[in-house]
Amino acid sequence: MTNRTRILTGITTTGTPHLGNYAGAIRPAILASRDSNADSFYFLADYHALIKCDDPLRIQRSRLEIAATWLAGGLDVDRVTFYRQSDIPEIPELTWLLTCVAAKGLLNRAHAYKASVDKNVETGEDPDAGITMGLYSYPVLMAADILMFNAHKVPVGRDQIQHVEMARDIGQRFNHLFGQGKEFFTMPEALIEESVATLPGLDGRKMSKSYDNTIPLFSSAKEMKDAISRIVTDSRAPGEAKDPDNSHLFTLFQAFSTPAQADEFRSELLGGLGWGEAKNRLFQLLDNELGESRERYHQLIERPADLEDILQHGAKKARAVATPFLNELREAVGLRSFVNQVQVAATTKKKAAKAARFVSFREDDGSFRFRLLAADGEQLLLSRNFTDGKTAGQVTKQLQSGQALDVRSEDLSFSVWLEGECVGDSPAFADAAARDAAVEALRIALTPVQE
Ligand code: TRP
Repeated sequence: MTNRTRILTGITTTGTPHLGNYAGAIRPAILASRDSNADSFYFLADYHALIKCDDPLRIQRSRLEIAATWLAGGLDVDRVTFYRQSDIPEIPELTWLLTCVAAKGLLNRAHAYKASVDKNVETGEDPDAGITMGLYSYPVLMAADILMFNAHKVPVGRDQIQHVEMARDIGQRFNHLFGQGKEFFTMPEALIEESVATLPGLDGRKMSKSYDNTIPLFSSAKEMKDAISRIVTDSRAPGEAKDPDNSHLFTLFQAFSTPAQADEFRSELLGGLGWGEAKNRLFQLLDNELGESRERYHQLIERPADLEDILQHGAKKARAVATPFLNELREAVGLRSFVNQVQVAATTKKKAAKAARFVSFREDDGSFRFRLLAADGEQLLLSRNFTDGKTAGQVTKQLQSGQALDVRSEDLSFSVWLEGECVGDSPAFADAAARDAAVEALRIALTPVQE
């Protein structure tokens, strides 16, 4: 379970998915999530949507449509963690922790922000005209999305590679400042799927809403048909040979057909098939491939309460990871409870008389553990896994109760035992002297305070 590759990607919720989004991002992501080695986190980036769009109805509509599209397309929410970014309060909280370590100079270099500045300068405006802090901080929010779940692979378009690199940069800085040798954050890698087609639109340019050349995905068969009828072709008449390799109609067909179907279509075009007929073939193919999903899509859209439940369930799964992890991060930066600090006996060992502390956390499998850190942050002990938080809490209490400690050294590490059971292990130390010093530090840390 822990060895699976964690794949994470977000979809900004500002529009309605079209055929190009489906072939370029949605379909490959759904297929990838079926790999038994994949642990997929897919989410609606609705906080990001607010950066680009101040129309609440559009935001709301888009969230619903995108959720329904992914589910209708066959996403299995029992396999993947599918959620709305805005349902995870840990994400904006982590965004702030990261904002405080992200270099302003790094964000100055973000392409999206720079493009807006350049445009202002070009048109003689103030460089900052119309630029919000949301746009400026966009990469930090995205870094929080990615680092919160320690994603290994982040499938994105080319325009997003820089953002993934910034996430690494910011994560590394945090690790360095607060990790004390521990890597809190996994370094994510952008995943650019070379084999996935960028679909051409009606006019042959890349299919994109900004070119107004899209083919709708799940709206209705009629709308799909109408769009296909507007695909631009050359003026060769029926009976004249067509050139499939210079026809984006053929490219579109190929993206959804089997190789055998494509071969057949190719020879028909070479043999003089009319463009009207060719458009019919494309419509038939798409309708066969997508008709069933389209029906599921409309059923889902009609049941927003069910969609809400599905996404709430996803948020719960995501938060089972995010909440304990954020607690660890809060601890690391010094946002700690006043209660859990173990006060160390100040009597004899003045030098060591500083606070050591327990840090508890939860594993992916739901078990509870804790670390005991010395005042300088060095890890003295990592507990075994406990099935519930109560047991873990009792163990930390007992360790601090002042009873004689059962510490057993072995090679360059040691373990701590309670009632004949091992409850935790130390890391391996450089040599026996370092190990013995750590045992001593542990004893001091666990000695109750005497007034
Ligand atoms: N910025 C991405 C885009 O516009 C969407 C996104 C937000 C994202 N958070 C993410 C993608 C985290 C990958 C990982 O496409």
